[in-house]
Amino acid sequence: MTPGSRRKFLIGAAATAGAGGLAGGFLWKHRPQYAGPAPVEPPFVPDPAFPNALRLPGADGMYGVLDASGSFTMVAKPVRHALLPGKPAAMLAYEVEHQGLALHNPVLRVRTGASLSIKFWNAIDETSIIHWHGLKVDSNNDGHPHYAIAGGATYDYQFTVPNRAATYWYHPHPHHLTGKQVYHGLAGLFIVEDDDEAALQKALDLRLGETDIPLVIQDRRFDDGGQLAFKPSADERFHGHYGAEVLVNLTPRPHFAAATRLYRFRILNGSNARLYRLAFRHGEQLLDYHVIGTDGGLLERPVTVKEAFLAPAERLDVLLDLRGAKAGDALTLISLPFDAMHQEMADGAALDLLRIQVHRKVPYDRPLPQSLSRIEAAPESAFSPRLIVLDQAKGRWRINGATYVADETPITVKRDTVEAWDIRNVPPTMPHPMHIHGFQFRVLSRTGSPEQQQRLAVTESGLAASDLGLKDTVLVWPGETVRIVIDFSHPFLGDQVYMVHCHNLEHEDGGMMLNLKVAA
Ligand code: C2O
Ligand code: CU
Ligand code: CU
Repeated sequence: MTPGSRRKFLIGAAATAGAGGLAGGFLWKHRPQYAGPAPVEPPFVPDPAFPNALRLPGADGMYGVLDASGSFTMVAKPVRHALLPGKPAAMLAYEVEHQGLALHNPVLRVRTGASLSIKFWNAIDETSIIHWHGLKVDSNNDGHPHYAIAGGATYDYQFTVPNRAATYWYHPHPHHLTGKQVYHGLAGLFIVEDDDEAALQKALDLRLGETDIPLVIQDRRFDDGGQLAFKPSADERFHGHYGAEVLVNLTPRPHFAAATRLYRFRILNGSNARLYRLAFRHGEQLLDYHVIGTDGGLLERPVTVKEAFLAPAERLDVLLDLRGAKAGDALTLISLPFDAMHQEMADGAALDLLRIQVHRKVPYDRPLPQSLSRIEAAPESAFSPRLIVLDQAKGRWRINGATYVADETPITVKRDTVEAWDIRNVPPTMPHPMHIHGFQFRVLSRTGSPEQQQRLAVTESGLAASDLGLKDTVLVWPGETVRIVIDFSHPFLGDQVYMVHCHNLEHEDGGMMLNLKVAA
């Protein structure tokens, strides 16, 4: 993207209507991104090791922002994008046409309580269905694999969004094909906003795509022609599909030009199988950053950390304070090396994810907020915890000794009850990011954690910052037992069938997934 087109994107993003009517000076003053020659600033020179400008949500194209109430059509279709510069790659994307513009994998942005009717048109040559990861909807709207439709068919969604503000996301969910379709590009963000969120944006002067930056982290493998290569071996089908090239917002070796102020990063691990141990490095030093939210939205107050694990499908909402930086400083979002606890491969290697280059001094005097939102105390269950055992047998990952059978519902809970679950990951095994559809839960404790997790504990019960608040996905390390508590109340009449599964997409596609019936 040229600096000129980048500027156009931001103008479009800043104005919901009449983009052309805004004076350049107004935007100049409020725009922290470098977007053309400025009179006094030296020109921005990207670090040659990170030559590509981070793709950002704008008015159209990849990650175009769609204020998404009302009805629209989303088409899953083949598209071409130059993922590696100069090498247009065949991939898949969700396309929405809006006011004559084509948005790919749009950032859907709604207010809590919004009603949506979305026609999904499957224009790829495989079955597919869209799952709204983290949203509290009834099973007709959940995108359970049971509802997958053939290529050429359509599926009508109609739901309201009761969720609190957070970064949710959407992706395909056809059985056996989820990993492949996500890998080829089908995934997008679903941002919900409410009053607490609006207050935060106002207090910190946050604007999506400028100072409020989604970061979708995905590892990929390319062939010599720059095409996405997804040909998992038998071993990769079992352990997970890893790639040596890590893309952020579908940008390889990306840089982001920043100013001396606070930035918000909404980080999604959108990888099939890879975990990250996220830190911001400046020289040899790891910087403090502030976790303000997790899967299901804002925490009560920021929690300052130097590192956090992020497993597939988890989100981490963080503030990075660059007020102390000088123009010319460069820092890097990295994944620190860790023990991937997965016998055959070394997938915990150190990785550089994103170069952040501070190139502009701006006045900014907003204090870090001390209070962000209210979270009710975790609900209490009247029953003893349900045991959920993760293990393997005959080359398959299992949940409570079972693998997915479309018409069996091995776990049935009663609507409007609260259950605690002890999720126990029994060696020999791998880390499993466990996800539940239809509900946000609370993590109560971690026991038997490996040292690399234990040392991140911020509570007596062993929770890390990334376990706080409302969660829909929780990482369970080999040997660990993670206790969660789930309030199975919802307004939907009749039995609802959701699912529990591992969000390592190869594990999921291999059947590490069970139906979860919420009986009326
Ligand atoms: Cu994000 Cu059933 O998954
Ligand atoms: Cu989900
Ligand atoms: Cu798994």
